[in-house]
Amino acid sequence: MEIKKVGILGAGTMGAGIAQISAEAGYQVILVDVVADVAANAFKKMQKNWAKAVEKGKKSAEDIEQYNALIAVGTDLDVFAECDMIIEAIIENIDIKKSVFAQLDQVCKPEAILATNTSALSITEIAAATKRPSQVVGMHFFNPVPVMRLVEVIPGTETTEATVQATVDLCKTIKKDPIVAKESPGFIVNRILVPYINEAAIAYQEGVASAEDIDRAMKLGAGMPMGPLALCDLVGIDVVLMICEYYWKEFGDPKYRPSLAFKQKVRAGHLGMKTGKGFFDYSK
Ligand code: 3HC
Repeated sequence: MEIKKVGILGAGTMGAGIAQISAEAGYQVILVDVVADVAANAFKKMQKNWAKAVEKGKKSAEDIEQYNALIAVGTDLDVFAECDMIIEAIIENIDIKKSVFAQLDQVCKPEAILATNTSALSITEIAAATKRPSQVVGMHFFNPVPVMRLVEVIPGTETTEATVQATVDLCKTIKKDPIVAKESPGFIVNRILVPYINEAAIAYQEGVASAEDIDRAMKLGAGMPMGPLALCDLVGIDVVLMICEYYWKEFGDPKYRPSLAFKQKVRAGHLGMKTGKGFFDYSK
């Protein structure tokens, strides 16, 4: 099936990024968020990114005009009826995702592929909420979406080879490098990256060094592009906490026990860049 129209559900950081790169690749895009302000803000963020690209001479005003003509923003799932592929990028909660996939199954045309950008949850479990598990697949993007090249493609137990191939092809068209991974909590990257971030937060909690010095050490001593605590702020402390808790439950291994620092910051409402404060202060 040729994919022409892409629907994206959830206009947070990841959904907005996916919408942006899909329009840049020439797809018609419908970006939906149940909260109108979130969808509107995502649209503004895209404009900001494109304005920067024009300033740097990387894109032209005509390019931006073309992208804008391809994007529609809404709050209602019904608009996905015409889409060939829907990529869900909503909150990481299995019950909410299952309920949303059951709704998408009702609304979308029978041949449409339903993809989830889940960072760790079971594709098989999400797919089982639909009557088309063979057309449900994981499509895991990385933050910041316009910059990070990888997309992990994860088949559930019922996903067909045709669905995987169509997803891999879409990744290539939107200029990403797909890697197919077996279904397992956290797939490849988050399986390795999240325990690393957690260990950094535990070291911070134990007072091994300040947040600044932990991050500087990993940049200077291990060549990381950014420190683990700044990365945690970028991803969202709430998201990292949820993933640690999920690993602990799924693997039954206490090595995934989350740092208390995550819990304290989440309880205080300091979720990282998105709230202006996390391990570091972004309010200035
Ligand atoms: N949106 C769009 N573009 C962005 C951006 C953003 N949020 N942040 C940076 N960029 C662009 C800049 O505009 C710049 O573009 P240019 O080359 O065209 O000028 C380019 O990226 C480089 O940015 P900077 O010069 O400002 O900064 P750096 O060189 O330090 O790069 C970084 C910033 C790309 C974020 C880099 O530090 C990095 O790669 N960090 C690691 C990120 C990472 O590990 N991401 C994965 C997180 S895990 C995940 O997402 C999975 C989830 O499930 C939890």
